[in-house]
Amino acid sequence: MKKVSRKWIALIAVVVLAIVGGVIINNHRQVSAANSKGKRTLIVYFSRTQGIYGRNLRIGNTKRIADDIQKKTGGTEFEIRPQKDYPSDYDQTARLADQERREGARPAIKGPMPDVSKYDTIFIGSPVWYNTYPMVVRTFMDRVNLNSSSKTVIPFTTNEGSGLGETPDVLKSQYPNAKTRQGFTVRGTQAAHARNQVNRWLDRLGY
Ligand SMILES: Cc1cc2nc3c(=O)[nH]c(=O)nc-3n(C[C@H](O)[C@H](O)[C@H](O)COP(=O)(O)O)c2cc1C
Repeated sequence: MKKVSRKWIALIAVVVLAIVGGVIINNHRQVSAANSKGKRTLIVYFSRTQGIYGRNLRIGNTKRIADDIQKKTGGTEFEIRPQKDYPSDYDQTARLADQERREGARPAIKGPMPDVSKYDTIFIGSPVWYNTYPMVVRTFMDRVNLNSSSKTVIPFTTNEGSGLGETPDVLKSQYPNAKTRQGFTVRGTQAAHARNQVNRWLDRLGY
């Protein structure tokens, strides 16, 4: 008799634990869903398919990360396309990019800007050029007003050694009133296999 009642107590304890655990997990899921649902998300990126080692890429490195972010957040993508394409040759692009950086140039962008009033969270993605944003990304930043406490701006980059470089500082100085969150970076050569890393970072941001 004693044995039977112990078994029952153990069984009831397991059932209660399972129910409590289920409620906790479910609540967590609801909070995560509410977090990502509440955010109207725009994913802006600049990316080229001319790889730095002279190999053409099917999909640019930074675009791959933008696509991973889009899949997880359900956000809208906007590609920054220069009015005049950068040369396909790496050395020529490097020379032009360096000149633009030294001059503080703002190369023109094709097409209209997105309506940023529709979004609360704006991811801004770019390759790192000379440890910072390519100047065409700075053109984008000048043309949209994200300098508001109602906006959250989040950098992401692909790189070949510089990580995020100066991009978080540039974002902060461009939009001092906006909120910023921890950015994401990965080597360009690893961008095609970074989905899990991207998802873990977005999990930490509440997506
Ligand atoms: C003009 C130019 C300058 C670059 N400067 C840097 C740099 O300073 N630091 C770095 O880590 N990578 C640098 N890179 C490498 C790119 O950041 C890297 O290849 C990136 O993944 C390219 O992204 P994309 O395929 O989206 O264009 C440079 C590449 C180019 C073309």
